Formats: sequence, structure tokens, C-alpha cells
Amino acid sequence: MRIDELDLASVDHVLTTTRAARRRLDLDRPVPLTVIRECLEIALQAPNGFNFQLWRWLVVTEPDTRAAIAEIYRRMALPAVGALASQVPADDVGTRKVADSSRYLGEHLDQVPVLVIPCHVGGLAENRALFAELGYDSDLDNMAASATYGEIWPAAWSLMLALRARGLGSSLTMIHLGAEPEVARLLAIPDGVSQAGLIPVAYFRGEDFAPGPRRPLAEVAFQDRWNTPL
Ligand SMILES: Cc1cc2nc3c(=O)[nH]c(=O)nc-3n(C[C@H](O)[C@H](O)[C@H](O)COP(=O)(O)O)c2cc1C
Repeated sequence: MRIDELDLASVDHVLTTTRAARRRLDLDRPVPLTVIRECLEIALQAPNGFNFQLWRWLVVTEPDTRAAIAEIYRRMALPAVGALASQVPADDVGTRKVADSSRYLGEHLDQVPVLVIPCHVGGLAENRALFAELGYDSDLDNMAASATYGEIWPAAWSLMLALRARGLGSSLTMIHLGAEPEVARLLAIPDGVSQAGLIPVAYFRGEDFAPGPRRPLAEVAFQDRWNTPL
């Protein structure tokens, strides 16, 4: 396909309306694994460090395993969401909505038909050691964190976009990592492999999604110097 044949409006629509889908997940409609495979194939084209492709993807479909993961997720998520919700001012409708919908996801996670757990071989400690070995002596924590999670988030986002274009909703979550070893044991994830998050996937209900509330570009993008609007 030539780039000038691309339907830019459709591409932009998917890019601007791929929301964190929680309440609108259709918990009753099965998700065929073929669609997950197709979307993961697309995700594998994402950028990644040195093209080492250290990502690994665990697609969890067994009801009992999903229920066990959901139990852990709930334990990690619900107290934090409750604490956050109690601090949010009553007029901060946006944050309240996120908290309510996050609570809903926690309460229903076991019913979400597919849970995708993006993993990466190695992790923060390995990357820190690698950069030290390569002779860097600056802020290795930040460098290692960027390299570690940067391995996986672009591909995870591609996965979410590909799913969305096919009528499936998902959301990027990481709160279960508070109990990462428990989930690793459940899924036989070996030592030396880190989980980056958990992406619940289901078809979405309703027609479509709209762009989400975001701060204006002028507040967040600068030209040449910090705080000089673009
Ligand atoms: C690094 C990261 C971690 C997140 N963790 C969670 C999570 O644990 N649970 C959850 O429900 N949503 C989580 N989210 C989703 C955000 O809450 C969501 O993207 C944000 O509220 C904006 O909503 P929107 O994408 O629908 O516009 C996470 C998003 C990111 C980028």
C-alpha cells in the first residue's frame, strides 16, 4: 500500500479514540484466539531496543486461572482505588470516573474473557547491570527503567490499537505487579522474566468511543526551551 492511499481519517480515529475500556467490556461475548493472534502479530512490529525482541506475551483464557489472577488483582487494586477515590474532590468528575471504572474492572476481572500479560526477558536489575558494564555511570535507574518498560509499552499500545480497530476494548493496567511473584507462579513464568502489566480484553459494547479529556497541547509541548509553547 502506498502511504497516500491510506485512509488517514480512520487511522486518526483509532489513534484518538482508543480509550481504557472497562465498563463497556462485553463480558458475555467470547473472544476467538485468532483475533488475539492477529493483533499480537501486528504488535510485534513495534519498536524495541536493538530489535532484541525481549517481549513475551502470555494470553490467559482458562476461567480458573483468570479467576485466580482476578483475585490477586482485586487485592492489589481495590484498596488503592478506594484510597484514591476518598482523596478526590467531589467536583473532580473526571478522576472520580476513572476511579469508579477502575473499581468496576477490578470487581469483574474474572469475567473478562482474555487477559494478556506482556512480559519482558530480564528487567530493571539486568538493564542496570548492562548499562553499568557498558560504562555508563549517570542515572542508571532512570536509564534502566526507560529501557525496560520501553521494551514493552509501544508493542502493548499497538496491540490495544489493533484490538480496537477490530471492535475489541482493552485497558493497560499494572496494579497487580504488587503481587507479581504470585501471578508468575500461577502462570509458570520463569525467574528472569518480568511482567510489565495486564491487559484485559473483550469486545466492547456500544457504537464507538470519543476522544478522551486531555490537557491542551500548548500546556504540555514546548519548543526549544522548557515552557516555551510550541
Ligand atoms: C502505566 C499505566 C498504568 C495504568 N494502570 C492502570 C491500572 O492499574 N488499572 C486501570 O484500570 N487502569 C490503568 N491505566 C489506564 C489509565 O487509567 C487510563 O489510560 C487513563 O485514565 C486515561 O484514560 P483513557 O485512556 O480512557 O483516556 C494505566 C495506564 C498507564 C499508562
